[in-house]
Parts: sequence; C-alpha cells; structure tokens
Amino acid sequence: MNKEIKRSMNILLAGGAGYIGSHTAVELLNNGYDVVIADNYSNSDPEAIERIKKITGKDIISYEEDITDKTAVSEIFGNNKIDVVIHFAGLKAVGESVKIPVAYYRNNIDTTLTLLECMAEYGCHNIVFSSSATVYGEENDIPYVETMKKGTCSNPYGWTKSMMEQILSDASTADEELSVVLLRYFNPIGAHESGLIGEDPQGIPNNLMPYISQVAVGRRDHLTIFGNDYKTKDGTCRRDYIHIMDLAGGHVKAVEYAAEHKGTEIFNLGTGTPYSVLEIVNAFEKANGIKIKYEFGERRSGDLPEFWADSCKAEKILGWKTSRSLEDMCKDTWNWQRNNPNGYRGK
Ligand code: NAD
Ligand code: WQD
Repeated sequence: MNKEIKRSMNILLAGGAGYIGSHTAVELLNNGYDVVIADNYSNSDPEAIERIKKITGKDIISYEEDITDKTAVSEIFGNNKIDVVIHFAGLKAVGESVKIPVAYYRNNIDTTLTLLECMAEYGCHNIVFSSSATVYGEENDIPYVETMKKGTCSNPYGWTKSMMEQILSDASTADEELSVVLLRYFNPIGAHESGLIGEDPQGIPNNLMPYISQVAVGRRDHLTIFGNDYKTKDGTCRRDYIHIMDLAGGHVKAVEYAAEHKGTEIFNLGTGTPYSVLEIVNAFEKANGIKIKYEFGERRSGDLPEFWADSCKAEKILGWKTSRSLEDMCKDTWNWQRNNPNGYRGK
C-alpha cells in the first residue's frame, strides 16, 4: 500500500488490552502504525499495555474506558485523529452467555453501535471487526467458506457476533464512505515469542489451550476432554488452531485493505488444518517435554464435532497466510505460562 498513508495511520484498538488485541498492537506497532488502546479491563489487565511497550520499545496512548460510554468514546475520537478502528471489545465466554444473555447483547451490541456513531461523528471511515467461525452455525459443510450463508448459532455469544456482522454490513450499505472488514477467527492459541504477553483467562479457563497450560503449570489438576465418541478419527473434536501472531498479522493486512476499499468484506482467518483435542494434548507434551494429566468426560453442550477454515480468500486478496506450526503454538504457549504462572496478576 501507499507508504505515506501507512506511516500516518492511527489505529484505535477497542478492547486492545485483551488476548488478541495486545498481540495485534505489537504487530501494528512493529509495522509502523500508531495505536491507541481503549479498554475497561473487564477481562484484561493494564499490565498488558506495559508489556506491549516493553516488546516494541514504543509508547502508546491508552484509556481505561467502557466502549459503551458514548461520551468517553467521543472524547477519545476528539483527542486523537483515528483512521481505523479495530473492534475487539466484547464478552466472549460461550457458557456465560447462556446464563446472562442480556448482558452479552447489551455489551457486545452497544460497543458496536457506540463505535459506529462516534466514527460517523468524527469522520472515521474504516472498521475491522473481530467476528468468529461460530457464525457459520451448525448447518454448513466443512471447510467453511465466506460465501456460505451464516447458520444457526448455538448460544447467545454467537448470535451477538452474527448480529454485529449484520449491523456493520447495513451501516456500510447506507454509508458509501464506510469500509467494514469482518474477520472470522478460528481457534487462536499461543503467545508472542517473547513470553511477555499471552492469554490470561480469569477464573477457570473455558478454552482448551489455556486449560492445558494451567495443568502444565500446576494450577489445575487435570484436563477433562469433553467427549471421545465423536465421529472423528480419534473420537475427539477437531478444530482449526491458529497461532496468535499469525492472527495478529491478519489484522495488519485487514487494516491496509480497509483503508483502500469501501463496502463490507469478510475473511476467514484460520490455517485450514484441523487437529483433534488428543492431537493438541500430544503436541503440547512433545513440544515441551511435560505430561498432561487428562480424563475423558461428557460431551460439552453446543460443541460441533469438527470444523476448519478455507482461508484462500485471505491469501488471495489480503496476501496473508500463516507461517507458524502447531509445535510453535505449543512452545510459545508454554513459554508465556511458565514465565507468568499466574498471568499478569502475578507480575
Ligand atoms: P479478551 O477478553 O481477551 O479481549 C477483549 C477485551 O475487550 C478485554 O480486554 C476486555 O476487557 C475488553 N472489553 C470487553 N467489553 C468492553 C467494553 N464494554 N469496553 C471496553 N473494553 C471492553 O478476548 P480476545 O480473545 O482477545 O477476543 C477479542 C475479540 O475477538 C472478542 O470480541 C472475541 O469475541 C473475538 N473472538 C475471540 C476468539 C477467541 O477464541 N479468543 C475467537 C473468535 C472471536
Ligand atoms: C476446543 C475443543 C472442546 C476445553 C470457542 C468458541 C468460539 C471461539 C473460539 C470466540 C473443543 C475441547 C475444551 C476443555 C476440552 N470463540 N475442550 N476440554 O469451543 O472450538 O471455540 O472458542 O468466538 O466461538 O465456541 O474452543 O478451546 O473451547 O474448545 O475437551 O477443558 O477442546 O470440547 O472440542 P471452541 P475451545
């Protein structure tokens, strides 16, 4: 892209202190962009900002604000010329979303509406959105391709993503200046190679890799594998795990794309190669020389047997592809966890 445009771009990372946002901040800063982070730290820690500064040697403007607070967000836009917004700010625990759906709809949809209103007010025309493979629902064949119709989500969290995609796409239909890039992530795992930033779930982890790494570090006794009677090759579910730094790189490409196009575009970000739960456990053990105690349990409600991405579109149009292996994902996860056994709170 035009180097002059690139040098002057200032990116607002809403929810940028979280797992994906912090890694993306590093990748953007290392590629010459300026970033502004706004986060209410409901699922993150300000220490992540300090670590981003340490890795990149760059300063960042950050705000502790709720993105549903229009006055606060408006002030951020007023004080900073924002060229592109990346919208990571959302609640993301699938099980919790079933218990408190209204809080999920309120937070996830309100953050999106607030950002869109402030963008319109301050003449910012580009937004990249953290969507999810979950919007393909249960009807679609695998691998998932962007041309497929969205499906029936199995939980309110998934529906918030599906609805936010619709809201953003409607906004770009109505405003021909607006550029919307919907990134459908598959299963991000791993950490920055420095071990300074990584995934730091609060309470009992919902996701597989942080659970494994907390067993490895002694915070949990054993992993329960949810079901071993699926019609897959070893009976456990298969997913498309992607290294968080490869995913972060996808955001740099998406920002460049958004700045040069109008309308809505959807991209899957996955590797295209699925691994089973047992393969992930074995790969973690092999990469790090640590035994992971596990037992088989009941299936988890809402889990699909297997899905993975067709990421050809991102490769063809964004010029993006993944380069890190499953071994890298396992090594980098462990490097982060063993250096930060209690996450950022143990700093
Ligand atoms: P995360 O919880 O680590 O990061 C989200 C961040 O948003 C947190 O720092 C949280 O404090 C902040 N936040 C939430 N509500 C906010 C609000 N109202 N105001 C300000 N900040 C708020 O999650 P993540 O894994 O980094 O995910 C980032 C985005 O990507 C989320 O929208 C998530 O739904 C989506 N996503 C994640 C995955 C995944 O597996 N991690 C997969 C698909 C999509
Ligand atoms: C992976 C596999 C579990 C934990 C979720 C969301 C999805 C997206 C990514 C945000 C499954 C199994 C897990 C454990 C296990 N998030 N597992 N024991 O469910 O593919 O996707 O995160 O958008 O929307 O649903 O990821 O890491 O939870 O599970 O056996 O303690 O590991 O059953 O097969 P999932 P996950």
